[in-house]
Amino acid sequence: MKPLIVANWKANKDTAQVASFIKEARASLEEVTHAEVVICPSFVVIPSLASLLEGSSIKVGAQDVSEFEKGAYTGEVTALMLSRLVKYCLVGHSERRRYFGDDNDSVRKKIELLKKAKIIPILCASFESDIPEGIEAEGLVAVYEPSAAISTEGVYHPDTPENAQNMARIFKEILKDKCPVLYGGSVNENNVTDYVSGEISGVLVGNASLDSRSFVKVVSNARFSSNMLK
Ligand code: PGA
Repeated sequence: MKPLIVANWKANKDTAQVASFIKEARASLEEVTHAEVVICPSFVVIPSLASLLEGSSIKVGAQDVSEFEKGAYTGEVTALMLSRLVKYCLVGHSERRRYFGDDNDSVRKKIELLKKAKIIPILCASFESDIPEGIEAEGLVAVYEPSAAISTEGVYHPDTPENAQNMARIFKEILKDKCPVLYGGSVNENNVTDYVSGEISGVLVGNASLDSRSFVKVVSNARFSSNMLK
């Protein structure tokens, strides 16, 4: 498979800022044939990004989804609501677990609802224990993203490529080798090549995906090394 490069914009960028990012980056990102690019903006921006990118090779993702299917759950956005707009959806990001109480129980429910809605869940896990027990890995993407490696205020402190490879191998074992495993945490244009190799099938990029020029460089540098991979 091609490396999967997922931009996680977190609580950044309104509709106008997203439109200008796409204007700046679209041509370069669409020229890329060696990787699949996914952009995950906030919920409110998803419809306009999806319409901007209709027919494009750049895919849209969501950053989270409700654990409920539908009904009286004020403020929730359901998998069904996202189903015609996004191809992927992050679940279990460490910031969701830390600030919003997401746990393996809710993560499992979210994954099931996403699969039902034909959206590919991207399960983020800092540790082996963040992978819900017995989860069906078919149709899933997993990310090894240690929370300590997530950039803070523009300062990068990634895990070592060796440790990331080891953890990706362990995650694959737990997931019975049925899904790709990505790496996330302080990935940028200078280090992305160190991670997109071996057991690691792509990256989840936060801070370095916010600036169009830097994200284009991350994507263009995200090539598997020659001795690689399934
Ligand atoms: P970072 O964030 O690339 O800024 O470290 C990654 C993430 O939290 O998904």
